[in-house]
Amino acid sequence: MDNLLSMEHMDEEEVMRLIRRALEMKAGNYMPYQEPRYIANLFFENSTRTKTSFEMAELKMNVTSIPFDVNYSSVSKGETLYDTCKTLESLGADALVIRHSEMEYYGQLTGLGIPVINAGDGSGSHPTQSLLDLMTIYERFGTFRGLNIVIAGDIVHSRVAHSNQQALERLGADVRFAAPPEWVDHDAAAPYTELDEAIGNADVIMLLRVQHERHDVAAKFTKEDYNREYGMNPARYGRMKEGAIIMHPAPVNRGVEISEELVESERSVIFEQMRNGVFARMSVLQEILGSVE
Ligand code: CP
Repeated sequence: MDNLLSMEHMDEEEVMRLIRRALEMKAGNYMPYQEPRYIANLFFENSTRTKTSFEMAELKMNVTSIPFDVNYSSVSKGETLYDTCKTLESLGADALVIRHSEMEYYGQLTGLGIPVINAGDGSGSHPTQSLLDLMTIYERFGTFRGLNIVIAGDIVHSRVAHSNQQALERLGADVRFAAPPEWVDHDAAAPYTELDEAIGNADVIMLLRVQHERHDVAAKFTKEDYNREYGMNPARYGRMKEGAIIMHPAPVNRGVEISEELVESERSVIFEQMRNGVFARMSVLQEILGSVE
């Protein structure tokens, strides 16, 4: 794999190879690099999980992360994304992990001679989040075929929804979206449903964060209204199928997408998703940087 930019062009074999390797790594079966490998993590948008789990994955794989803080870089002097990345390539980075608010920012980077791992591009794609989500689903169910998956919430602004829909459908799951009318994505291919209609038959309810920072106008819902109309609350929890799980990429708006008391409930795998993020990213690093010699 030359780059990891989106889930759109990844076939089933590639996805399954990455997931199986991530599960092996979680079981402790991996070999850190013995020869130097260098990565730069460029986060032009804030992040807790993605940035830190890449750093953790790099530490575990003995990959050196080149310290780089966007806020103290020459980006503030007007340096372009391409020149910033080309500079890091010239300094010896073997690959770049990049999060940026611009959709498909990576289109500007085709002149680079090193791989790019997309850590999120605006409302476009979030392929490593998708891989950790897929890993978590596969770990729980052992298959994707025949699973009923509902992705609920701020669909139009969600790179997680886009990446997961593309991947899960290709892997044989039935994917439906549920969203307030304001946040329906009219370009997305998945059918829409009402959460209340779908909940009794869903194996996975994947909740999405309300992305206030991407809204032109403030949402008209109060927290309580949103939770009652579109969120996971005790009434809906009680109607879930046996064995069904609740996912959320986080950060969670507690009391909004999911009631406070359900965030760490028995069906919730939210913190397991975060743990799996380290191993999914280790698997991606090995795919991109090559097998350990
Ligand atoms: N899920 C996710 O991408 O979280 P961060 O924004 O904290 O990286």
